[in-house]
Amino acid sequence: MLVGILLSRIRAEEKYLLEAFQKRNVAVEMLDDRQVIFDMHNPDPWRRYDVILERCINHSRALHALEMLNSWGIPTVNTAAVAACCGSKFSTTRALIEHNVPCPRTFLAFTPESALQAIETLGYPVVLKPAVGSWGRLISRVNDRDAAETILEHKTVLGSYHHSIFYIQEYVDKPQRDIRTFVVGGETICGIYRTSEHWITNTARGGHATNCPITPELDALSLAAAEAVGGGVVAIDVFETPEGQLVANEVNYTMEFRNSIDTTGVDIPGHVVDYVLQVARGAQ
Ligand SMILES: Nc1ncnc2c1ncn2[C@@H]1O[C@H](COP(=O)(O)OP(=O)(O)O)[C@@H](O)[C@H]1O
Ligand SMILES: [Mg+2]
Repeated sequence: MLVGILLSRIRAEEKYLLEAFQKRNVAVEMLDDRQVIFDMHNPDPWRRYDVILERCINHSRALHALEMLNSWGIPTVNTAAVAACCGSKFSTTRALIEHNVPCPRTFLAFTPESALQAIETLGYPVVLKPAVGSWGRLISRVNDRDAAETILEHKTVLGSYHHSIFYIQEYVDKPQRDIRTFVVGGETICGIYRTSEHWITNTARGGHATNCPITPELDALSLAAAEAVGGGVVAIDVFETPEGQLVANEVNYTMEFRNSIDTTGVDIPGHVVDYVLQVARGAQ
């Protein structure tokens, strides 16, 4: 058994994963995404791996590598299809809706004029997000028409191509927290609350992690959201609505988990590694 880990940097998460492979006496090779070269005509150098675990920081690198590997029939965690879906907030929301998974009401528009119309239809406050992004970056809560016009103009004039796709979502008046659950191979293994004084609760933005018990409702929503994007190893962002409902905000496919192991008492890297080995054995 040989596992390849495609990575950008050895962060805390990659160290935990390496340890978990070592504990199971599994041989691992680290593949630095700054150095790998795919000869598109020749999959042979990649045939030695039973599975590739993708841990790139850069979404485009992950997407291209996974597509290449999957087209050669080399098993990966996650699959290229899951990465493509989760990498785009538009595609994720589209998949959630298609699978009847409750999620915040969301509009899509392509010009600042139509985006403003969509915002006014939803009603303030709304949340604008880049279709591709993470760590809470460039996410804006728009409280009134003045702010909407300003942000749309800035995105249009100063933004790159990605900012000309307008992803517009109702603001969910959640408590001072949201929930992140971890789903590995069709099982919700644990969850955390992310509490913050800011409405953006990412731990990368100062959100504080505490254990969140997995209730049957949270379990069902997490599994449904994971299945909607194609399964694998994913982390689901969940909001509690003022009406007491749970809705799935987004699904992350190369998740960070360093703050969640001690908090939940669950061996997240161990679960991930066991799933990767199942995929390698063709059991998934
Ligand atoms: N529609 C929304 N209503 C309320 N809070 C939101 C909404 N969208 C995002 N947030 C807050 O912003 C955070 C980051 O948004 P998210 O969509 O998860 O993007 P990212 O990929 O950057 O994590 C969420 O965890 C949540 O705290
Ligand atoms: Mg998020």
